[in-house]
Amino acid sequence: MFHKYAVELFDVRKDYFLGKIRVPALRGVNLKVLSGDFISIVGPSGSGKTTLLNVMGLLDRPTEGKVYINGMDVSRLSESERAKVRLKYIGFTFQMFHLIPWLTALQNVEIPLILAGVPSKLRVKRAIECLRAVGLADRMNHRPGELSGGEQQRVAIARAIANNPKIILADEPTGNLDSKTGRTIVELLRSLNEKLKTTVIIVTHNLEVAKSTNKIYHLRDGVIVKEEEP
Ligand SMILES: Nc1ncnc2c1ncn2[C@@H]1O[C@H](COP(=O)(O)OP(=O)(O)O)[C@@H](O)[C@H]1O
Ligand SMILES: [Mg+2]
Repeated sequence: MFHKYAVELFDVRKDYFLGKIRVPALRGVNLKVLSGDFISIVGPSGSGKTTLLNVMGLLDRPTEGKVYINGMDVSRLSESERAKVRLKYIGFTFQMFHLIPWLTALQNVEIPLILAGVPSKLRVKRAIECLRAVGLADRMNHRPGELSGGEQQRVAIARAIANNPKIILADEPTGNLDSKTGRTIVELLRSLNEKLKTTVIIVTHNLEVAKSTNKIYHLRDGVIVKEEEP
């Protein structure tokens, strides 16, 4: 079931503590992301982008404020309930890919399926399907070290879509790639958004990447200072 909004944030604040020193990373963020949208959050290093993505993806809890995923208030859920929501609704990709180096592409894509309890035959079938969707079926037995950066990010995207999530959260997905390869990764995310209706949220400090999304939110010092439709 699709709710109107994939993600809603209400006055989200997040403080980190370094000993007794409070580091405010998010200082009151309000944001509604339509289901099926393709948006970006841009801001300089240290502006709170990763913190914001981790809060939206339930990897981290806000210090204050509320987070809704697909219309559901997840603020008060227990850790195990949050893990279930994460597994079912959310796929992540990272700047450094975060693939497991000693596993093949196929085995990396199988990981979220194992966590979701998918039986092995079905799991392999689904993992191959996802690798095919990112154009990498012919590399499924390669390990990350035997793949280019762009190919590794595509494996990471295959892993992110394995459980058919409603939302893909991509933290600097092109940050470690040359600009041409980066463009193909953004195009891939766009095509998944169009084909699967997956909501895609890209965090980036690259304005060119942001300009290819439907909506850009500018983050400065932990607050959204500007919204634009390129
Ligand atoms: N685990 C942490 N402990 C303390 N401070 C942190 C931690 N993570 C991030 N910060 C601080 O929070 C702010 C936002 O960081 P981050 O969300 O990583 O920004 P961005 O992804 O935009 O570079 C920065 O000032 C950063 O130093
Ligand atoms: Mg970051």
